[in-house]
Amino acid sequence: MTTGLPMGADPADDRAAAAPSTEPSSTAGPLSHRRRWQLGVVQSMGPPELIDLVPGYLDPDLLPVDLLRGAYRDALAEFGSAALSYGDNQGAVEFREVMASLVSPACGPEHVLSTAGTSHALHLIATGLADPGDVVLVEQTGYDLGRGILADCGLRLREVPTDDDGLDPAALRSSVLEARSGGQRVAFVLVTPTFHNPTGRVMSLERRRELIAVAHHLGVLVVEDDAYADLGLTEPTLRPPTLLEMAGFTGVIALRTFSKTLGPGLRLGCMVAEQSLVQRLVSHGYFVSGGAPNHTTSLAITRLISDGDYHRHLEWLRTRLRTRRDALLGALRDGLGTDPVLRFTTPAGGYFLWAWSRGDHRETDLLAAAARAGVAVAEGSRFGTTSAPSARLAYSFNSPSRLADAGARLAEALTLEQNR
Ligand SMILES: Cc1ncc(COP(=O)(O)O)c(C=O)c1O
Repeated sequence: MTTGLPMGADPADDRAAAAPSTEPSSTAGPLSHRRRWQLGVVQSMGPPELIDLVPGYLDPDLLPVDLLRGAYRDALAEFGSAALSYGDNQGAVEFREVMASLVSPACGPEHVLSTAGTSHALHLIATGLADPGDVVLVEQTGYDLGRGILADCGLRLREVPTDDDGLDPAALRSSVLEARSGGQRVAFVLVTPTFHNPTGRVMSLERRRELIAVAHHLGVLVVEDDAYADLGLTEPTLRPPTLLEMAGFTGVIALRTFSKTLGPGLRLGCMVAEQSLVQRLVSHGYFVSGGAPNHTTSLAITRLISDGDYHRHLEWLRTRLRTRRDALLGALRDGLGTDPVLRFTTPAGGYFLWAWSRGDHRETDLLAAAARAGVAVAEGSRFGTTSAPSARLAYSFNSPSRLADAGARLAEALTLEQNR
């Protein structure tokens, strides 16, 4: 993964974005400093000379340093030494209660298992509910690093065709039947129905129903990766029901993470599922030996959620992400004109805009034009099979002014290329 510090990002962009009227200044804000944002501390960094639209995470100015500082202080004051103990194997009940309430009123703490984020949850499911050699069905274009985790656990990945509405239920059915007729066990199907990575799309209610019906009929477990679910950008905030809720809490495991809303360094999330699956997974030696992962952090986040600060922070963050999305979209639209050589989605939430070329460009041409424009984008083929030369453009990692600049430069470079 390449990551670049958005050099020259302008925090004033964020101060200019409309703040929600309920926002207390102490709960969120561009309070981070960047002195230690360097290799050896953070995972990786991209080329500083490019505007980097590759990273699928937040601009350092959007990471709520002071909010977390207060949350850890409050959790330590409230829980004292219990915050530093091994935590309850399944996760502290206070954390599981607030997580259940975030998911659905019909969900209780018994349905929640604390995890160190979605990567951990995928590893846990791949090792606890599947055997090496089993088939996992994945979206034709989907989160590449998640696939890597499953493949490293010895699972065989099989892409299922998708369309503008996400995974095709008829194709899911034939993939399951085909795998089974070849003597293979299908362990689960992995989907991201809401604010998809990389396409930004949201699966319709009708498609969700069809998908659940096929999976239930065939007895295939669905793993629902809901990493961006809290980041709806339309007003009123779009938050489609989860597959988990629609399926009546059976046959679906939903995965939640705070990586996209608070910060990936927290390594905290949870899975929500029927109790029997939670109990099967929590008996894993990992939990028995170490208790729930990141217990202290989970208590800090519990305070944020129960005090209402998490929801205020989400309002603040959505405003910033919307400004960023619109800056990139606006510049691309203005620059590409009425018969654009590049088409792109208008994401209703999440971090990503998916762009594809209409001309006879190859993906390498698209990437080369972007590089000439001084912009780095993630190549579409990284995410699986694509139907046209494509790229993912993240609007989460740069300031609005940098994104507007990136959009204008990309549009100009591609138009020039087309007219050559
Ligand atoms: C769809 C999706 N799932 C999971 C993750 C990783 O989540 P976590 O940081 O909780 O491991 C990402 C991060 O890019 C993602 O885009």
